[in-house]
Amino acid sequence: ALDSDKVTVLFVLGGPGSGKGTQSANLVQDFGFSHLSAGDLLRAEQSRPGSEVGALIRTYIKEGQIVPVEVTIKLIENAIRDVLAEKREGEGWEDGKGRFLIDGFPRKMDQALLFDAELCQSKLVLFMDTTEEIMRERLLERGKTSGREDDNEESIKKRFKVYKEQTRPVIDYYIEKGKVATIPGSGTIEEVHALAKAVVVEQVFKA
Ligand code: AP5
Repeated sequence: ALDSDKVTVLFVLGGPGSGKGTQSANLVQDFGFSHLSAGDLLRAEQSRPGSEVGALIRTYIKEGQIVPVEVTIKLIENAIRDVLAEKREGEGWEDGKGRFLIDGFPRKMDQALLFDAELCQSKLVLFMDTTEEIMRERLLERGKTSGREDDNEESIKKRFKVYKEQTRPVIDYYIEKGKVATIPGSGTIEEVHALAKAVVVEQVFKA
């Protein structure tokens, strides 16, 4: 398990294109969190020469499917431990505490249960609540230039299905635990940022 005196974890969840990555970057600017994106970690592993799981990850991502838990949780845990090993007192670490913002994880119940049981209890879950229509528009727009293999109509449809069937239950699980702050995510980037920032101030730094 991670040392709970040294580590605070926030999750950022929401549908594909809900703004998880965008707002995580903004919150990192505001508060100096260490940002881990499950999708980015998986894409980096996929393109790492010699990776034993690269080909497998690629198949899952292209199909919009959730990569098996043992692959994903290992990448997240290693990334947390790397940050903890590297960081010393300094920016954002005045109190010696590592604050992690993890976006796109956990997105299936097995990941949530394993993380909670074996690593640590998250402090807060930010749920980016955005309509499917808006999310689809954003992803198709991004797909024109991003080169992401899953930003096309067919993959997007599968990602929404997986989100509804497998990730929504994770959000509901954390709602029951009283950990979820819902951020209305359909406004402009600046509007959503202001809402998310206010929640973090209130629930992480004043709590
Ligand atoms: P991942 O990379 O996490 O993709 P996703 O969940 O589909 O989300 P996106 O990154 O597409 O969107 P986002 O919510 O971060 O929005 P963003 O800020 O980029 O996962 C990809 C795949 O990896 C999964 O399908 C799965 O296969 C695998 N995977 C990931 N995590 C996994 C896990 N835990 N376990 C197993 N497998 C996993 O914004 C989107 C666009 O909209 C951008 O262009 C942005 O500029 C724009 N935008 C954002 N906010 C606004 C706004 N308010 N107004 C206007 N435009 C906006």
